[in-house]
Amino acid sequence: MTPLKPRNERLWWRDAVTYQIYIRSFADSNGDGKGDVEGIRSRLPYLKELGIDAIWITPWYTSPQIDHGYDVADFMAIEPDYGTLAEAERLIKETHDHGIKLLVDLVPNHSSSLHKWFQEALKAAPGSPERARYHFLDGKGENGELPPNNWTSIFGGPAWQRVVEADGTLGQWYLHIFAVEQPDFNWDNPDVRNYFIDVLKFWLDRGVDGFRIDVAHGMVKAPGLPDIVEADPDSEMLAAETRPFWDQDGVHEIYRHWRKVLDSYPGDRMAVAEAWVSPASRIARYLRHDELANSFNFDFLSSPWKPASLKEMIDRSLEALKEVGAPSSWVFNNHDVVRSVDRFDLGLIAGAGSTTFDRQGDPAKFNLKRGTLRARAGALLMLALPGGAYVYQGEELALPEARDIPEDRLTDPRWAMSEHTDRGRDGCRVPLPWKRDPAGAFGFSSRLTLKPDEAWLPQSENWGDFAVERQDGDPASTLTMYRNALAIRHEEAGLGDGPMSWIEAGDHVLAFSRPGNFACYVNFGHAIELPAHSEILLSSAPLHGSKLPTDTAVWLRLP
Ligand code: NOJ
Repeated sequence: MTPLKPRNERLWWRDAVTYQIYIRSFADSNGDGKGDVEGIRSRLPYLKELGIDAIWITPWYTSPQIDHGYDVADFMAIEPDYGTLAEAERLIKETHDHGIKLLVDLVPNHSSSLHKWFQEALKAAPGSPERARYHFLDGKGENGELPPNNWTSIFGGPAWQRVVEADGTLGQWYLHIFAVEQPDFNWDNPDVRNYFIDVLKFWLDRGVDGFRIDVAHGMVKAPGLPDIVEADPDSEMLAAETRPFWDQDGVHEIYRHWRKVLDSYPGDRMAVAEAWVSPASRIARYLRHDELANSFNFDFLSSPWKPASLKEMIDRSLEALKEVGAPSSWVFNNHDVVRSVDRFDLGLIAGAGSTTFDRQGDPAKFNLKRGTLRARAGALLMLALPGGAYVYQGEELALPEARDIPEDRLTDPRWAMSEHTDRGRDGCRVPLPWKRDPAGAFGFSSRLTLKPDEAWLPQSENWGDFAVERQDGDPASTLTMYRNALAIRHEEAGLGDGPMSWIEAGDHVLAFSRPGNFACYVNFGHAIELPAHSEILLSSAPLHGSKLPTDTAVWLRLP
């Protein structure tokens, strides 16, 4: 077992709890119905009280918002809807004043089609240096009328778009693994590589503690852009190793370079990979000693609420990452997947494809009470495991998926690109409820006349039931449970990075100990008797005397 270091001697990112802020939906300071930088700043005291160690802010750069910021038009400027660079700088400083680290989202796989380089490429001729920064190719077929290969976009439809050349004729095709408005950069091009070093430095110079790297397994494409041999529309990102545009060896050279840049700055600057690759041994490659710090554990996130499956994902990750000396980064929610309250109740498997409408399950069968119970138990499981954790805004409120967004209000590009068969990811992105009263979209907006259905995505009528105000100070609320869990996590030297041992407690129970006689029990079946003479530190739901009921987790001090 790895020896346990005192917390102050560990690198912060080895066991930080990082709170993901989906900026558009967090807090709206200027009353336009969209979240912004100043909104985040106004809520720093809330985040401090919650007890998280770091925040990650989803893309705040200038963007036409086709994919809500993941289509970046200028990587070194703030989206005017969200604020200014001066405000961003003030936020970075004040976040640090609160003792919280700050990560920004870096989107290196693609730009917006409005990025100046792409606009220049459209105007330039085939074969020009401007086009070489992206993947422009001639089409197949007699007149180039067929796309250069059979790749499909993650959002639906072909991954290629044909352009009209300067002379008005139909011309070359460009690659877009995501939306048509998100052309993929060509990472074989030195301009692209150099540009992103400048982008890294731009934000590091402004004091950010690190980066969440979007599609971290995607930048390098297999030489010659060969066809996908076996197209499997269901596997998408998780079957990464079979796709010529995911998890190519060449991507690691980029991270070795970036790591040098990160290490050239004072403090422990870091990067976390959004790499939908599996199995865990492939993830470990991103976390080798000279590459990145963290990588989201998407196998864990993709597991159903079943003890055997969760245990397998935990073991596999710990084992694979031990090989490279990296901590695991647990996560159950983010802005791309159906919220865990719904997933754990409906038995949905999360993954990049999990947002398809048919996989969101039958709303008539959804049991909010059971889903909430499970999501709360899952949180205590996650926060007791070795390593760090990522919490998505609203998770601390046990916010469910919003299923009632009218079709004409859906904004995710998946909706249109799937020809209206996939409602997309809007359901987990609805603005947060801060107040129980509907005024100002349940306190999301500073403009009190803003109604819940006037926020950029309409809030459900019952959103106020989940509001921060309603949960604050209520000992039984999910918010209070998170605050208590994070406070205990800070106190317990045995939590976070360090060893764990499984405790045998039956097939329907996950139980493990951490240093300091700490134990976590999660019960998935009939009620069980807890170890005698143990002290209860925290539970995700009331215990039945000395018994742990189903779908409940408890933190204990063993005798
Ligand atoms: C992953 C992001 O999390 C997702 O929201 C986005 O649509 C794609 N990458 C494309 O940038």
